[in-house]
Amino acid sequence: MRILVIHGPNLNLLGEREPEIYGNLGLEAVNQRIRRLTNSLDVQVDFFQSNHEGEIIDYLHHNRHTADGIVINPGAFTHYSYALRDAVSAVNLPCVEVHLSNIQQREDFRKISVIEPVCIAQISGMGVDSYLQGIEVLMAHLGTIDR
Ligand code: DQA
Repeated sequence: MRILVIHGPNLNLLGEREPEIYGNLGLEAVNQRIRRLTNSLDVQVDFFQSNHEGEIIDYLHHNRHTADGIVINPGAFTHYSYALRDAVSAVNLPCVEVHLSNIQQREDFRKISVIEPVCIAQISGMGVDSYLQGIEVLMAHLGTIDR
C-alpha cells in the first residue's frame, strides 16, 4: 500500500506562519508524525509540498497508477481551484481532504471547498491530528484497518 500526502501552498512555512492558527510544528515535524503512523500501519508514504497549482496537478498525474490513495491539504486552493478538483477526480484515487484549522469557523471564503465533493472525507480543525485521522479514514476505506 502506498499513499501520497500532499501539502499545498504556504504549508512550507508551517511553524512560523500564523502559529496561533496553524500551530508550532514545522512541516518536517508534521511529516515525521505522519510517518510514525504509516510505519505502524506498514504503509508506504510519499510527501509532496508545492506552492504551485500545476506542480500539484502534475504530481497527481505522475503518481496516478502507482499510488493507492491521497491525503491532501490543498491550502487556499481548497476554496477556488477547479483545476485541482478536476485532477483529484481524474486520477480516480480515494482522496481525503484535511485542514489544520477549522475552515468552517473562519472567514466566509474558507467555508467553501471545491475539492470536498470529489473526496471521500474532509477533516478539519484538529491540527496535525487532522492528517493522522485522514490517513486512518483512507486506510479504512482501502480495507487496511478496521475503524
Ligand atoms: C488550511 C486552511 C486554508 O484556508 C488556508 O488557505 C491554508 C491552510 C489549513 O490547513 O487550515 O493555507 O488548508
